Amino acid sequence: MEKVNHGSIGVFDSGYGGISVLANLIEAMPGESFVFLSDSKHAPYGELAPGRVLEHTMHSLEYLKDLSVDAVVIACNTATSAAVEVLRETFAFPIIGMEPAVKPAVKKGASSRILVAATALTLKESKFAALMESIGDQHEIVRLPCHGLVDQIEKYGPESTEVDKKIEELLEPYKSFQFDGVVLGCTHYVLIKNQWQKKFPKDTVIYDGNEGTVRQTIRMLKKQSRSISFQGPAKVCLMDSSQSIERLIKSKNLLLKQLQNNGEIALEQLQIELRKTNELCEFGKHNPSIWHTANSK
Ligand code: DGL
Repeated sequence: MEKVNHGSIGVFDSGYGGISVLANLIEAMPGESFVFLSDSKHAPYGELAPGRVLEHTMHSLEYLKDLSVDAVVIACNTATSAAVEVLRETFAFPIIGMEPAVKPAVKKGASSRILVAATALTLKESKFAALMESIGDQHEIVRLPCHGLVDQIEKYGPESTEVDKKIEELLEPYKSFQFDGVVLGCTHYVLIKNQWQKKFPKDTVIYDGNEGTVRQTIRMLKKQSRSISFQGPAKVCLMDSSQSIERLIKSKNLLLKQLQNNGEIALEQLQIELRKTNELCEFGKHNPSIWHTANSK
């Protein structure tokens, strides 16, 4: 039997990148309530040791657990690589992780040359090695650890000239290469998909793991016999470990922009709450929240 009285769906990332996944989740399930938590206080995760990423991710999921979420989407390839197995052993709710979309990018029955852009940590972890093994060795997979890119996106915003320059710099050694596909294996890079696309010939397909993650989330919820609401308005609560309300407003604007660009849902039907988390370690102590309607500045 389907459970009808349900809680929210938690979505977690180190920073702004998870907003790209959140937008796709809202579009797929426009009657649901979502709690988005970013841990910008400790971002970028991709430059940290795996043990630190595990620690910060555990901490953040403890916080989400305290908010009685029904499931958590780890909207971060890096945190998934470093932590998903331990998280699944620790928490009772379903945890949906992400991986670079290499499988959909490689040609079946032929060899392909694919560029995988991700954080250094994602590319170094055993999860990525297992992914490489699963696709076989007829493909040429070029790994591009994008040192500094998440940091620039966090600091200057996705559409800044600093970010554009950084992508240019990272791709410099591959100028003469031809790729059959490019995989954006970090949710932050999905926010700047257009900038990536402009650096390659028009017919180069850019892949990301967002849609696959949304499908997997729906599958997991159904497996739990949890009903899914498709009738709006969607409710979204945005939280960040930095305690900065300016940052939350930026997250809100980024979310609205993503939704507007995708054009799938009516923005005025969206309810957005910005909430300070206090220190993430003080579980259960939440500051009063501030409500924003989708079109307030
Ligand atoms: N959005 C994260 C990912 O998908 C970025 C990691 C970071 O904070 O470096 O990997």
